Amino acid sequence: MLIRRHLAQCSAMGSILPAHVVTAETVEDLPNAELYPEEEAAIHHAGMGRRREFATVRQCARVALAGLGLPAAPIVPGADREPQWPDGVVGSLTHCDGYRAAALARDTDVASVGIDAEPHDSLPDRVLPMIAGPDESRHLSRLRSEIPEVHWDRLMFSAKESVYKAWFPLARTWLDFKEATVAFDPATRTFEAELHRSGAFVDGRPVTRLTGRWLVRNSLVFTSTILTRSRPVLSDEHSGRVFGADGGLCAVGGSRQ
Ligand SMILES: CC(C)(COP(=O)(O)OP(=O)(O)OC[C@H]1O[C@@H](n2cnc3c(N)ncnc32)[C@H](O)[C@@H]1OP(=O)(O)O)[C@@H](O)C(=O)NCCC(=O)NCCS
Repeated sequence: MLIRRHLAQCSAMGSILPAHVVTAETVEDLPNAELYPEEEAAIHHAGMGRRREFATVRQCARVALAGLGLPAAPIVPGADREPQWPDGVVGSLTHCDGYRAAALARDTDVASVGIDAEPHDSLPDRVLPMIAGPDESRHLSRLRSEIPEVHWDRLMFSAKESVYKAWFPLARTWLDFKEATVAFDPATRTFEAELHRSGAFVDGRPVTRLTGRWLVRNSLVFTSTILTRSRPVLSDEHSGRVFGADGGLCAVGGSRQ
């Protein structure tokens, strides 16, 4: 069955998020993914490829909503393209060639989440100076000489996109690539992002630093970052897969005690 065939690839994003974040991921577009009229209105101008990724990633989100025990709902882009989630839900979407994913959680557990997937290859030469400061460039050079098989520049780009997707719903403002300094720890496959801009708050406290996790698998890089609520939450033990659907879609995590 397709679900079984894709399961190992499918759990990439789920493997870098804690169990209370439900992920649904697919390596191919879902031909039967349907849109609500308000989603249709938001995408009516787009070409076929964009429509397919838009619909598939929303189907992923609805699978993740079900994993949280919530009904299906439209996920319409806001004025800044941010996905607008049902009340009580936070989440993030990503898509790139050969991969679409949604990661959702209850807002009582998680204040914000950001995920990103990118092809695992070098960034075009002109891009790195636009997204990384001198200290970050030196950090990436060191990592490249130690572990040359990882495209650290692409990983930094992805980590910053994840940070932005977690930042935006809290701050509702732009965050420039150079307004966060990212450092990777290859031993733990984690990263830290120090923010140089204020505007995001969790439980009344300013967000000055985010932590995240990363993974390189199947020619893709995956990054995730979450901002949890003040009270302690479970760490990264996975409670198991929730269910799958046609076309290689699967959901992991999310069992609520
Ligand atoms: C918004 C952005 C991060 C999305 O990246 P992308 O290359 O389109 O990559 P992905 O496919 O992984 O993600 C697309 C999804 O991101 C989500 N997204 C878009 N804008 C968003 C925002 N303002 N806040 C949260 N999520 C957002 C959407 O769900 C979108 O999917 P959809 O259009 O199908 O709904 C990117 O276009 C961008 O503007 N980056 C500049 C800002 C930034 O990254 N700063 C770095 C700070 S350190």
